[in-house]
Amino acid sequence: MSNESPKTFHVKNYGCQMNVYDGERMAEMFAARGMDASDKEDADLVILNTCHIREKAAEKVYSEIGRLRRKDGSSPVIAVAGCVAQAEGPEISRRASEVDIVVGPQAYHKLPEMVAAVAKGESTVDLDLPGLDKFAALPKRRKTGPTAFLTVQEGCDKFCTYCVVPYTRGAEISRPFAELVDEAKALVDAGAKEITLLGQNVNAWGDGEQDLGTLIRALDRIDGLHRIRYMTSHPNDMTDGLIAAHGDVEKLMPYLHLPVQAGNDRILKAMNRSHSRDSYLRIIEKVRAVRPDIALSGDFIVGFPGETDAEFEDTLSIVRETVYSYAYSFKYSPRPGTPAATMDGQIAHEVADERLQRLQALISEQQAAFNRDTLGKRTSVLLEKPGKLEGQLIGKSPWLQSVHILAPGLSIGDIVDVDIVEAGPLSLKGELLMQVAA
Ligand code: SAH
Ligand code: SF4
Ligand code: F3S
Repeated sequence: MSNESPKTFHVKNYGCQMNVYDGERMAEMFAARGMDASDKEDADLVILNTCHIREKAAEKVYSEIGRLRRKDGSSPVIAVAGCVAQAEGPEISRRASEVDIVVGPQAYHKLPEMVAAVAKGESTVDLDLPGLDKFAALPKRRKTGPTAFLTVQEGCDKFCTYCVVPYTRGAEISRPFAELVDEAKALVDAGAKEITLLGQNVNAWGDGEQDLGTLIRALDRIDGLHRIRYMTSHPNDMTDGLIAAHGDVEKLMPYLHLPVQAGNDRILKAMNRSHSRDSYLRIIEKVRAVRPDIALSGDFIVGFPGETDAEFEDTLSIVRETVYSYAYSFKYSPRPGTPAATMDGQIAHEVADERLQRLQALISEQQAAFNRDTLGKRTSVLLEKPGKLEGQLIGKSPWLQSVHILAPGLSIGDIVDVDIVEAGPLSLKGELLMQVAA
C-alpha cells in the first residue's frame, strides 16, 4: 500500500456471471474517474472480486493476495470484493494484513471513497446489504463487447441447505422495469448485439404484475438488439409467461439453464430445493412443447450428505431422461454456516470423486451428441472473438455452442449465417453463407 492515490487499477473476477457484471461496473466506475485499466502486475489498485460458493473458490483469494506482493516488498492497494468479502468480512484483513479494503457485493459503488480513505492511511470494511442503492450510484453504460451482461435481480430467498448465496448476496430483490430497459438500450447503443439477463434466480425477477417474460418481451422491441438470454433460473420461478416467451419471442435464444442439482426426491428435500424430480421434468416437457429445439443445461451436486449409491443413480437417470446440451457438475463442498455442513453422513472424497467422474462422462456424451446433431444445419452465429488461425473468428450459435469460422473481412460483433460442416465434442466449424446483420 502507498499513500498516493492510485492511478491504475485491475479487477480480477472469480465466480459467476454476476461477479463478472459487478467487475465490469467497478472498472467503469474507476475509468469514469480518470483511472486507467492495467495488468495485475503493474496496477496501483487491485480488486479481487471473489466467490465463496465452494471451498476451492474461496481459498484462491488468499494465494492470490500473496502473489500480489512486488519484488521490492511493496504491494498495491488491495481490495477484496465479492462473496468471500461478504462471508468472511474483517477476518480477511486479519488473515492477510496486506488487504486494505473489504467490500461486499452490494456496497462496491462506495469503492472510490474507500480507496480515497486508504490514501489517507485508513483501511476500510463495508459489508452493507442495502439492496438497490448501488445501481443508482454507478455510471451509465458506455462500453461493451457484442455480448453484454445485465443484472436484473439480486440475491436469493431459497436457502438451499448447501448454499452460501442467500448469506453473501442477501434477499431477493428486483431492479425496476424502466431502469432495466434504459440500461439495455444504453448497452445496445454502446454496441451490444446480445444481452444476457442475470440474477442468482433471474426468473424470480418481477416488478408489480410483470415477470421475466414481460421484461424479455419489452427488450425484444429494442432495435439493434438481436439476441436475449438469461441465467440462472430456479425451477419454481419458471412461470407460464416465461415459458410462453420461449415459444414466440424470436430474439430469445433457444437455451435454458435450469439447475436441478439431483434426481432423487429425498436428496432434493434434504437440499431444500422445494421442487421434485417430477415437477422439474414436467417443466422441461412444457418448455420443449413450445420450443422443441431448445438446448438445456443444468447444475448438479454429487455427494450431498447422506447420498447413497442408489440415490446418485437417480441423478444419472434424470440426466438421461432430460438430455442436456451441456451441464455443470460439482462435488459437494461443505460451506461454513450452511445447514448441510453439519448434517450426518458426509460423503468420503473418493466416493464423491467417482460419482462426479461418472456423471461428467454422461454429460460429455450428451454434449457431443447434441453437437453432432447440428452437423449439416444452417444457423446464425454472433462473432465474439478471434480464433487461433489467421482470419478465423469464434462465435456462438443460438444454442450457445462455440462455432469456428474462417471469415476474412468479417468483424467481431457481426452476425452471420453459416452451414455447420464439422462437429467436435466441444465446438463446431461453420462455413459462411452471407452476412445478415452488422
Ligand atoms: N441460483 C442458482 C445457482 C447458484 S450457485 C441455482 O439455484 O441454480 C451455482 C451452482 O453452484 C449451484 O447451482 C450448485 O450446483 C453449485 N453449488 C452451490 N453450493 C455448492 C456447494 N456447497 N457445493 C458444491 N456445489 C455448490
Ligand atoms: Fe443457492 Fe439455492 Fe439460492 Fe441457487 S436457489 S442461489 S442454489 S440457495
Ligand atoms: Fe460465487 Fe457469489 Fe456468484 S458465491 S457463484 S460469486 S453469487
